[in-house]
Amino acid sequence: MRLSKPVLFVLGVVLSVAVAWALVALVRDMGAGPGGRPAVVTTGTAEIGGPFTLTDHTGKRVTDKDFHGRFALVFFGFTYCPDVCPTELQTIARALDLLGEDAAKVTPVFITVDPARDDPETMARYVRAFHPRMVGLTGSPEEIAAAAKAYKVYYRAGKPSAPGANDYLVDHTSFIYLMGPDGAFRALYRAGTGPEALAAGIRAQIGAE
Ligand code: NI
Repeated sequence: MRLSKPVLFVLGVVLSVAVAWALVALVRDMGAGPGGRPAVVTTGTAEIGGPFTLTDHTGKRVTDKDFHGRFALVFFGFTYCPDVCPTELQTIARALDLLGEDAAKVTPVFITVDPARDDPETMARYVRAFHPRMVGLTGSPEEIAAAAKAYKVYYRAGKPSAPGANDYLVDHTSFIYLMGPDGAFRALYRAGTGPEALAAGIRAQIGAE
């Protein structure tokens, strides 16, 4: 049997689409989380989050209520973090890109656990490197401690290389929190969750509103 050129062309297109589809499914599965563990740690109602008063990267005083009306992707870390924080903030920015128009319904929020070094100016430079709409929040040590407690975030500053040096690291919890437009907790994603899995989780929550 000889196939005409148009038929061969159509067969080629169908085959290409099938291969692309399989690749997309594979990449999606790879984004599920390290070691094949589910990316989502928990969803639903948990006592995570709550009232806070902090200072944003423009120097404005803000509260949790300023973020109501949209979803918020909340991550705690510090700008001097050598690895986990930049990786996770890139994942958040990439997930927002993947959401397309739905990204407008989500505010990315980075809260420092190192208020001694992360002043508003430092936060502004940092968050703008990741996403134009990312909000950086800092505050007094007491305000940061209260916000971290509300999100059940652990953090602890390490020792500098020499007395008085400014090069200490801060050990910290590195989950990504998805909060709803009502300010209530929706989902928790572990570090290492791929942008595809994160975007899919957010999309599901947006769809459930
Ligand atoms: Ni970090």
